[in-house]
Amino acid sequence: MKKQKIAFFDTKPYDREFFEKINERYGFEISFFSPRLKTETAPLAAGYETVCVFVNDTVTPKIIDRLYEGGTRLLALRSAGYNNVDLKYAYNKLRVVRVPAYSPFAVAEHAVALMLTLNRKTHRAFIRTRENNFSINGLMGFDMHQKTAGIVGTGRIGKIAIEILRGFGMNIVAFDPYPDNEFAKKHDIKYVDIDKLFRQSDIISLHSPLTPDNVHMINSSSIAKMKDGVMIINTGRGKLINTKDLINGIKSKKIGSAGLDVYEEETDYFFEDFSADAISDDVLARLTTFPNVLITSHQAFFTKEALTNIAETTLENIRLAYEESRFPNEICYRCT
Ligand code: NAI
Repeated sequence: MKKQKIAFFDTKPYDREFFEKINERYGFEISFFSPRLKTETAPLAAGYETVCVFVNDTVTPKIIDRLYEGGTRLLALRSAGYNNVDLKYAYNKLRVVRVPAYSPFAVAEHAVALMLTLNRKTHRAFIRTRENNFSINGLMGFDMHQKTAGIVGTGRIGKIAIEILRGFGMNIVAFDPYPDNEFAKKHDIKYVDIDKLFRQSDIISLHSPLTPDNVHMINSSSIAKMKDGVMIINTGRGKLINTKDLINGIKSKKIGSAGLDVYEEETDYFFEDFSADAISDDVLARLTTFPNVLITSHQAFFTKEALTNIAETTLENIRLAYEESRFPNEICYRCT
């Protein structure tokens, strides 16, 4: 059988390391390109049946046309999310496959890492002790034991976050349009409406997908309902939070702390090094000035296990498509 050729965009060193290792089993011919997939870089894919992209490669109609003209027929997303692809336009031109789940543990554990850091201020202690400042003034936290965590979205990731936090002895209230009552009973948690969750939670952690009805669910009016000093954690999607309202809540001290792995305008910045540049996004720049705001650059997924799963599922998706004409992880305009 002829070797499949894959054009791999937005390659980072870690992508290459994990895909090359798993590809020893498949033997595909992978060309790793550093640039993101854009109109200008799409010609690099000419002659490649498969194109592999990540979350910040925006696959527009123009790009789909270029890829199709160059002979591409399969778009393999190495991500779960697919809001970056125009599925309607891709229909009947490119088949699109993805990695539906790679490590819910990675994301849930990262959310808890953000909580612990913000609560016990270890990010500040690290800097202090390196400067021989051994004062603990201002570093006081709270026992998470017996406090209430509000979990928004109890899918794969939300459920693992709940299990971890139950281990700390936290009370859990949860909101999900499709509650899992058996899970609730087993873990002794309570499903409540979203307003009650806002009112009762000491820590609110977002684990739902972004849908048209929950854009900016954290905004000035929902923040007003929350407990004073609430901690907000977002490893879901940036647009779940109205960032300007969040900043106002932090400035007024209504919000005690915020841990953000995602940001609504992250596409221009996250995954790239701007340490020698001025940041032109004033909202992001303001966020980085608060000692009680911790930003990570969409790294919640970033574990060895998740990268292994991403590489395995992506290459298996490609093998199944070409060797067996099967598309178990397909997403398309008509089937979603
Ligand atoms: P999942 O599909 O297993 O669970 C999502 C849950 O959210 C479902 O139970 C669903 O009923 C619920 N839901 C849907 N709309 C809701 C709403 N308006 N309010 C509350 N709950 C709602 O998804 P999974 O694997 O748990 O992932 C959750 C989200 O985490 C993803 O959609 C993605 O946005 C984000 N994510 C972030 C990563 C990161 O690196 N920061 C990596 C992977 C996922």
